[in-house]
Amino acid sequence: MKVAFAKPGLPKAGCLAVGVLETGILTPSAKEADDATCGALTRAIKASRFSGKADQTLDIIAPSGLAVDRVILVGLGKACDVTPRRMESFGASAMSAAEKGRSTELTIAIDVLSETPVSSATLAAHAALGAALKSYRFDIYRTKQKPEDKPAIASITLCLDDAAAAKTAFLPLSFIADGVGLTRDLVSEPANVLSPSLFAKVAKGLEKDGVTVEILTEKDMHKLGMGALLGVGQGSEHDSHLVVMSWQGGPKDEAPIAIVGKGVCFDSGGISIKPAAGMEEMKTDMSGAAVTTGLMQILARRKARVNVVGILGLVENMPSGTAQRPGDVVTSMSGQTIEVINTDAEGRLVLADALWYAQEVFKPKAVIDLATLTGAIVIALGSEHAGLFSNDDGLCKALTEAGTEVGEPLWRLPMGEAYDEQIKSDIADMKNTGGREAGSITAAQFLKRFVKDGTIWAHLDIAGVSWSKKALATAPKGASGFGVRLLERLIANTYETPLHPVTEKKTTPKKTGK
Ligand code: BES
Ligand code: MN
Ligand code: ZN
Repeated sequence: MKVAFAKPGLPKAGCLAVGVLETGILTPSAKEADDATCGALTRAIKASRFSGKADQTLDIIAPSGLAVDRVILVGLGKACDVTPRRMESFGASAMSAAEKGRSTELTIAIDVLSETPVSSATLAAHAALGAALKSYRFDIYRTKQKPEDKPAIASITLCLDDAAAAKTAFLPLSFIADGVGLTRDLVSEPANVLSPSLFAKVAKGLEKDGVTVEILTEKDMHKLGMGALLGVGQGSEHDSHLVVMSWQGGPKDEAPIAIVGKGVCFDSGGISIKPAAGMEEMKTDMSGAAVTTGLMQILARRKARVNVVGILGLVENMPSGTAQRPGDVVTSMSGQTIEVINTDAEGRLVLADALWYAQEVFKPKAVIDLATLTGAIVIALGSEHAGLFSNDDGLCKALTEAGTEVGEPLWRLPMGEAYDEQIKSDIADMKNTGGREAGSITAAQFLKRFVKDGTIWAHLDIAGVSWSKKALATAPKGASGFGVRLLERLIANTYETPLHPVTEKKTTPKKTGK
């Protein structure tokens, strides 16, 4: 989708979206459209239930007095609540309404509101980001969809006085939209297409953006002693891979931040096979790896002044004559042995070796892993929060704040010795399941056994949030890309050396969550 910024003015074609504040107060641009249509907007508001509440929309089709196909009134809520995040929903709501029609262009008017401390350029850039994120589609396999049934908006223009500043503010946000798009594409792609090797190839493609990408084969991993990861992939026809992406935007000798992603391209459960109902969703079990890949692309494209390594453990978990059995004991790269009680608890086995590798090779400042790790986290938190586990309060705080800022909320769960008891094994150093109780916590305890003393670490269990059965504020239903924006924000807030001193006043959204 093309995104442009222009001076204010009523467009001659397509859709026009204007903001309306709560209790029906017209913004200056809405007033202008109202005047041009002899009060059609005011009358439409009176005749409907539209009150200007955040994200309400009201369509006025083919209004006389204006050349546009439709005017879309979009609720802004209260003027004092208009934040960059709020504007993302605003842009997204305008986009959803516009996509209902056949117009190919959408113009979004951005007004200066004296109650908001943030510049209109920033607000416009975020409205554009919201619209771009909402317009995401994964329709490459829909060969019979008629062109007239497909969403038609091909370009959006945001109108404001400070168009040039908005364009500048949007550039880094456009990289975010592209990175989230890459993550959603990877998550949506079915497993008969996206094998571990194809995933590795896609990651290799980041080299054109300046990321160094190394792909380890099964032979390499055998040499390193990665028995835990290799055990998971041994039942599959597809070879397993470990991908190491590194972005060096900071000082050469500075330790990197390591991001480790679970990349189970399909999780059938293995010999402990899953029930048939809903198993198709397990094509998304590589979401952690997809988030890591999207994030690396963003950091490279916006030349982030930080060192980050992204490590992907790519495998397929299948039942077969060569598959790992319940009861097998594997030796991980760390030397610790694991009794595999349930082959469906495979994510932690993959991460055990990927985490160890990250620490051994890179001695990172902090390690953050992302994984669709447990069904139990879906029971605990639903799809409203991702689970957060960590050995460091500072990192938890920074992650939680970043999540609130971008609308990807986290909820911290406890850890401790008593939970660790649950994964003691009779014949090995540990077992890979800890029973039904506290399933997400015992999974985190398992991972913690592969975190070295002194390493700052956080684990995000994204099983409940990476795929959405309903449309979200800035995403259609399906792959959400949850985690990409969160980590991008965390890195910018906490680890990156700022290029310019911060000139604009920073605002934190008043309300938490979605
Ligand atoms: N990939 C699943 C977890 C999952 C569940 C992801 C729902 C997305 C949606 C994971 O590998 C798994 O199967 N976990 C088991 C662990 C159990 C066997 C200890 C689970 O949660 O049931
Ligand atoms: Mn599983
Ligand atoms: Zn899994």
